[in-house]
Amino acid sequence: MIRTPICHLLDIEHPIALGGMGSATSPPLVAAVSRAGGLGALGCHYLSPQQIGERTAAIRQETNKPFGLNFLMFDMREDSFAAALELRPSVMQFAWARAEQDLTSHFDRAHRAGCKVTYMAGAVPEAVRATKAGADIIIAQGTEGGGHVGWMASMPLIPMVVDAVAPIPVLAAGGFADGRGLAAALSLGADGILLGTRFLASVESPLHPNFKQAIVDSDGHDTQLSEIPDIASGQVWPGAMTRSRRNRFVERWAGREWALRQSRAEALAKLRAARESGDVDEGPLSMGQDAGLIHDIPSAAQIVTRIAQEAEEILSRRLPRLVADLH
Ligand SMILES: Cc1cc2nc3c(=O)[nH]c(=O)nc-3n(C[C@H](O)[C@H](O)[C@H](O)COP(=O)(O)O)c2cc1C
Repeated sequence: MIRTPICHLLDIEHPIALGGMGSATSPPLVAAVSRAGGLGALGCHYLSPQQIGERTAAIRQETNKPFGLNFLMFDMREDSFAAALELRPSVMQFAWARAEQDLTSHFDRAHRAGCKVTYMAGAVPEAVRATKAGADIIIAQGTEGGGHVGWMASMPLIPMVVDAVAPIPVLAAGGFADGRGLAAALSLGADGILLGTRFLASVESPLHPNFKQAIVDSDGHDTQLSEIPDIASGQVWPGAMTRSRRNRFVERWAGREWALRQSRAEALAKLRAARESGDVDEGPLSMGQDAGLIHDIPSAAQIVTRIAQEAEEILSRRLPRLVADLH
């Protein structure tokens, strides 16, 4: 069994975490990951204080294991954050602050509520900034990942962040979907991995079945970075692009973002309808390049167990054999 300092710090069995992915997370998914010994996290973006309370209660009904609540700092409702603090989750998972935003006061409030603080960074200076503000864990997120990402790839970013924030532990995110990814992340100096796309294609994921199947069908070469889904939903992110599946919707507006701004309301209505009806050509699907490593839709518990077992096999058998063979 693989144990890293993060397991002790977060009181979890396996160094495997779920990214708090807004409406793409749900109480059943969060609870399933935590129950399996990983760390689940509920995306609280857009949620009212009441919704956060109800969903947290639903998670706690299914498990008494630790889980996190995720907030996008540039777009946080104070009443929702205050409600989340009162619920005293094990972890407050922050991401995407504006450059001028004060991290310390948010991190301090989370600490006072008894939470561990994680912060997701796509670049070294951002990771250092969060460390100085008191984060307990840095999530280093590479551009291969699904959803909003920066420009640096996981392979150089992770060891750079590990060096820059030591001794603060690092979770690697962006492009990880199996045990090979966990073994690689540990080799790069990380203490574990955080996954988004892999858990989207799980039984408990709230995505429409057609969107789950689109991840399984993907060969990983069909994603694209753009601002198109954000323009359609009227959101201005602090320096991020979205990695999503390249579909008819994205192709229609690529290079014509000005036209999308012009007919935003109509485009948004169509996009929402497409998401609900499971139209994978017209509904944006945030997913990472690791979609090419995803070939089935198992339960979240199976995903956690499989990744832990595969990584253990690589680290305890395959790699030591390679070293022994040299002598
Ligand atoms: C649909 C989707 C929504 C996401 N929303 C959030 C979010 O609200 N907050 C956050 O911290 N990360 C969010 N992320 C990023 C994930 O937490 C994680 O960093 C990313 O998915 C890792 O890359 P992977 O998809 O290759 O596993 C989202 C990712 C996806 C795919």
